[in-house]
Amino acid sequence: MTPDLLDAGAKRLAEYREKHGAEATAQSGGQAASFARVVQSNVVDIASGGILYVDEVTVSFDGFRALNKLSLDIRVGELRCIIGPNGAGKTTMMDVITGKTKPDSGKAFFGSNIDLLRLRESEIAERGIGRKFQKPTVFEHLSVFENLELAAKTDRRVRRTMFAKLTASELDQLHSTMKLIQLAQESARVAGNLSHGQKQWLEIGMLLMQKPQLLLLDEPVAGMTDEETERTAELFLSLEGKHSLVVVEHDMKFIGELVNGGQREKKKIVTVLHEGSVLAEGSLADVQSNDRVIEVYLGR
Ligand SMILES: Nc1ncnc2c1ncn2[C@@H]1O[C@H](COP(=O)(O)OP(=O)(O)O)[C@@H](O)[C@H]1O
Ligand SMILES: [Mg+2]
Repeated sequence: MTPDLLDAGAKRLAEYREKHGAEATAQSGGQAASFARVVQSNVVDIASGGILYVDEVTVSFDGFRALNKLSLDIRVGELRCIIGPNGAGKTTMMDVITGKTKPDSGKAFFGSNIDLLRLRESEIAERGIGRKFQKPTVFEHLSVFENLELAAKTDRRVRRTMFAKLTASELDQLHSTMKLIQLAQESARVAGNLSHGQKQWLEIGMLLMQKPQLLLLDEPVAGMTDEETERTAELFLSLEGKHSLVVVEHDMKFIGELVNGGQREKKKIVTVLHEGSVLAEGSLADVQSNDRVIEVYLGR
């Protein structure tokens, strides 16, 4: 739903009220009221402070439960780290949130109003959930600038042709994004010539051009050098608060950097998944000293 459409909806409702009176609107349950409801339902409602609610979600593949009554709540602006052994269901969880996999049972809501299980993958992306897969998927033959430009032009809120010029504010956003992902010096460089880490940042930049409210990042630092990993932690910490982030990673040093950096006053929660459910949840120190977590994941 574009801001324009939202404005149009609000305007139409105001006109209707003026013409028929507020009472008529309330009594009629009619056109304007239902139009207002439609307008509402496309915009994520975060008044309660939550951005994502996953409740007792179960996913089976041929009888095997990849997710087993998984529940997870993410607050607006939170940076949540999720760890757990291979096969724990971390990627499947992201598949459910993004609409790639429909669960057998359970609930998943974006904000308090958007039922993710009723939407298609493309609709979920349009509502403001961005996902970064493990492998970078940038356009190798295009420059850094062109990759970001393309992402801006496929903005879910604005329908336009690929040949249209970026608006001044989009161009501003592009330049600030390039700085944020530390690729301003590489603007004209062809993406295929970037390092693995730089490609990952470029793809994150492309996601950011779409202004997602919730970002899901699946093993973002796999294959990165130590320095790239540190810079990625800084990048995510700079996004904290402006976006909500769910980060799945195995790299415990990286998790430590995320948890201990940034807005320290906010205690960050780490969730440990195991066999499709939450095994433990709490501060990093809490989960690191949890006997079950040590047994199944961290080792002794
Ligand atoms: N499409 C699928 N078909 C069958 N089994 C699957 C499918 N996707 C995932 N699984 C299984 O579900 C379990 C959880 O996988 P996954 O979510 O990828 O775990 P993680 O990301 O935590 O390593 C694994 O045992 C995996 O083999
Ligand atoms: Mg995975």
